[in-house]
Order: sequence, then C-alpha cells, then structure tokens
Amino acid sequence: MLIDLNAVSVAFDGKTALDGVSVKLDQKRIGVIGLNGSGKSTFARLLNGLVTPTSGLVTVGGINPAKDAKAARRQTGFIFSNPDVQIIMPTVLEDVAFSLRSSGLSTGDIQTRALAVLQRFKIDHLADQAAHSLSGGQKQLLAISAIVVAEPKLIVADEPTAMLDLTNSRRVAEVLLDELEQQVVLVTHDLNLAANCDIILRFAGAKLVEFGEPAPIISAYLAEN
Ligand SMILES: Nc1ncnc2c1ncn2[C@@H]1O[C@H](COP(=O)(O)OP(=O)(O)OP(=O)(O)O)[C@@H](O)[C@H]1O
Ligand SMILES: [Mg+2]
Repeated sequence: MLIDLNAVSVAFDGKTALDGVSVKLDQKRIGVIGLNGSGKSTFARLLNGLVTPTSGLVTVGGINPAKDAKAARRQTGFIFSNPDVQIIMPTVLEDVAFSLRSSGLSTGDIQTRALAVLQRFKIDHLADQAAHSLSGGQKQLLAISAIVVAEPKLIVADEPTAMLDLTNSRRVAEVLLDELEQQVVLVTHDLNLAANCDIILRFAGAKLVEFGEPAPIISAYLAEN
C-alpha cells in the first residue's frame, strides 16, 4: 500500500510536533528512528487517524484517515509499547475473538479464527488464561494476535519491544519483521531492528531529516548523537 504524506504538519497547542513532512512509502518493512520527542509517534499515529494533520494531507492506500477514521482503523492495526492498554476482554481467546465481533462471522468461525492466530504465534496454550496474568512478552504477542486476526493491510507498531526483555523482544521483532505478510511500520529505539527494515525514516526536531537505506542513516544518527 502507498503511504503518502504531502506537506504534513502537526501542532499540539500551538507547539510543532511534525513540521512539513512529505514522503511516499510502499516498502514492506518501514523503520522509524529518532531521539525522544522528535515526532516518531506523531508520524505513526497519523497513519490510522489517532492524530490528524494541522495542515497537509495523509493518505494510506488511498484512504484519508482524518476523513474516514473507520476505514483507516480497519485497514491499519496499531500496536503500542504497553500491551496492557490493548487488552479488552478477560481471557486470551476472548480478547482475540473480540476483534472479530463486527465481522459478520458466526461465533464458531470467530473461535476457529481466533484459535488459529494464537496457534500461529505459539500462544494457543494460553487461550483460556486470564489475559492480565500473562507475562509482558506474552501480552504483546496477544496484542499482535488481536490485531492480525482482523487482517489489516498495514500494521503500525510504536516501540513494541520497549517493555520486553531480550528474549521477548527477539520474538516480537521476529513476528513483526519476518513473519507477518502485512506491511509494517516499526517505530523503535533498537537500531538493530531498524537495520533490518527495507527503508528507515529518521526524525529530528519534528522534521523528517533522512529516509532511505538503513545502514548510512543509522551511521549518521550514531555519529550525530
Ligand atoms: N497529545 C499531545 N499533546 C501535546 N503535545 C504532544 C502530544 N503528542 C506529542 N506531543 C509533543 O510533540 C512532540 C513529538 O512527540 P512524539 O510523541 O511524536 O515524539 P517521539 O519521537 O515519539 O518521542 P519518544 O521517543 O519519546 O516516544 C513532543 O514535543 C511531544 O511533547
Ligand atoms: Mg513515541
């Protein structure tokens, strides 16, 4: 899908969070790096309408998330750093099934699909457990399952490994960068993950300062900071 930003600026209470960003992206793995407060999350949130531009135009697969929030949410799944904010239902299976509540599928089909996604990410043994009793890594895999089951075309993950230990970070990164068939936008401070993307964008001071091949952009970032 084409992610197209044309002269996009975002201000919160008159303070600029994103300044004149223009970029067209259709790569499968898109990494986003930059210092704290540089505008990464603001960029990520524009893609599904969680944030709307103060000026300029965003389209994702031809949909303007600021105008058609419902279509944008259907098309783009969003993963947060803290999986607790995404868990809605008491048990793991119920939580994944909840994503299909308005799919028009029968209860039986919803259960089957939800279980298949849990199997895919190897957490089906947790299906009947209380979602809040899971470890951080298991919760993040649950959050990803609850997004993937609805079959979005794009998945935006804003620092999805920030709260995870080494093993769980690796597993979540493997899912997002190697296993998903969807297009993925990955915001991360982990430069090893960024290095594995097809393209990376670097934000600094609310501006998109560089985008392209990961290696030279990461080197410049390390040299400057
Ligand atoms: N909802 C909001 N209300 C007010 N200011 C905001 C809001 N969201 C972001 N900002 C401000 O916009 C700027 C960019 O924030 P953003 O969250 O996009 O940065 P970031 O690159 O994701 O940083 P981090 O690495 O810390 O997550 C910051 O100055 C931030 O304080
Ligand atoms: Mg952020």
